[in-house]
Amino acid sequence: MSSLDSIRKVLQNCQQEHLLKFEDQLNENEREIFLKQLSTIKFDKVNALFQKAKNSISEDVQKLDSRMQPISAQQCGSEKSASAEELLSYRKLGLEEISKGHVAVLLLAGGQGTRLGVSYPKGMYSVGLPSGKTLFQIQAERIRRVLNLAKEEHGTMGQIVWYIMTSGPTNATTKKFLEKNDYFGLSQDNVKVFQQGLLPCFDFSGKILLEEKNLVALAPDGNGGIYSALSNNHILKDMENRGIKYVHVHSVDNILVKVADPVFIGYCVTKEVECGAKVVSKDGPDEAVGVICKVDGKNQVVEYSEITNETANLRDSSGNLVFSAGNICNHFFTTEFLQKIADDYEPDLKLHVAKKKIPHVNDSGDKILPSSPNGIKIEKFIFDVFQFTERFVTWEVSRMSEFSALKNADSAKKDCPFTAKRDLLRLHKSYIEKYGGKVKDGVEVEISPLLSYSGENIEEKVKNKIFEETTILLSEEEDCLKKKIENCIKS
Ligand code: UTP
Repeated sequence: MSSLDSIRKVLQNCQQEHLLKFEDQLNENEREIFLKQLSTIKFDKVNALFQKAKNSISEDVQKLDSRMQPISAQQCGSEKSASAEELLSYRKLGLEEISKGHVAVLLLAGGQGTRLGVSYPKGMYSVGLPSGKTLFQIQAERIRRVLNLAKEEHGTMGQIVWYIMTSGPTNATTKKFLEKNDYFGLSQDNVKVFQQGLLPCFDFSGKILLEEKNLVALAPDGNGGIYSALSNNHILKDMENRGIKYVHVHSVDNILVKVADPVFIGYCVTKEVECGAKVVSKDGPDEAVGVICKVDGKNQVVEYSEITNETANLRDSSGNLVFSAGNICNHFFTTEFLQKIADDYEPDLKLHVAKKKIPHVNDSGDKILPSSPNGIKIEKFIFDVFQFTERFVTWEVSRMSEFSALKNADSAKKDCPFTAKRDLLRLHKSYIEKYGGKVKDGVEVEISPLLSYSGENIEEKVKNKIFEETTILLSEEEDCLKKKIENCIKS
């Protein structure tokens, strides 16, 4: 049987034969590409996923209020309530683990950034800081700085492997960008890019959509695709070989993210948990973020749409929101736990369905760019493993210092390039003021991540200084490079 015949048979059995509707219009090369793509898709599994996802649509609309409880007090730590000694000891321990090479960072960079609306990966976006640095550069430089802090504290320069999860749409561009920029000073050996999986997009009846006459419409399988991607790409094995015990996982779009945060890592290690989640306190009952709580006794993120107004507004005796632990996609995992998920629980992860506008080829062979949702994408979410945790904590941090997400274009006026830049510069201004400097209103002063991770190491440069014009406070290394370049230009 030819490969076309055998694929036709599979498609017939799975009621997806329409995918071959335009096969006789393809030239040899186009047909070859198409058959190659079709042969990589496990249609029986994909159909089963659609059925499971369809069932979860009706579950999604159920409100969970009656089954929800806040996380127990022992599981909730916070920067605000911890003592100075505790914070110092968490930081010291986190830096020790870093200096021993036990810590890796895993960056979630497989999203398509549709709301931001750029055609390249979000990590390559520059929000317009005086330095022009992109999100990728800021994050890589924070890794370099925290390695130096670990060396200062413990005498050994450890290593942090930067695992970057990309997807079909972001992989090649991300790799090229990192290579072109020399991995922003990180060792190439310690930057590992790997791809998450893709899933077909469906119409509402379960028929898979064609993006072109010879191309199935595929989309990344959500940030929860991390768990299968870790084992399919042998990343867990790589972690084991390198002696990595703890992984800090975060989204690409939080400009304030403390990458490999030693305090968070030290806290989770001290509490001997297998998973931890950083949270920020919801800014009010109506903020549309997921909250971490318990549902039927299990740790879980409950989306804003899954609770009633009444529950969102519940307050305790001190007037604080009962469900206020806003999830910010910033997690700690032990590698042992990641292995357990990959081995035992991945197939049980919940499937989320998003109704989307999916460009496709219609029955007449015309390319359609829909103006309203015409189909569904199936996604897994990273936080859906919380229910499988036996030892889990949350760590509440200040939004002002740690969370400002880049989700939208500026027209949205929220979680956009304008707010990301504003929030970073506002934080830097607060660091400068803490050490006796002043920044005039409207003046932009940026602190390089290579100079300072969280406000340390700047006193000499800012004390009793008034900043009246745009300034970038640079590390020694950057200063030298700048001077060299200036000299070159002069001569
Ligand atoms: P979001 O859910 O905000 O999605 O991702 P997004 O792709 O950035 O933006 P929209 O929704 O298309 O506008 C949160 C984090 O999860 C990653 C993103 O890259 C981001 O860091 N992500 C999302 C993945 O790694 N893979 C995915 O399939 C989806």
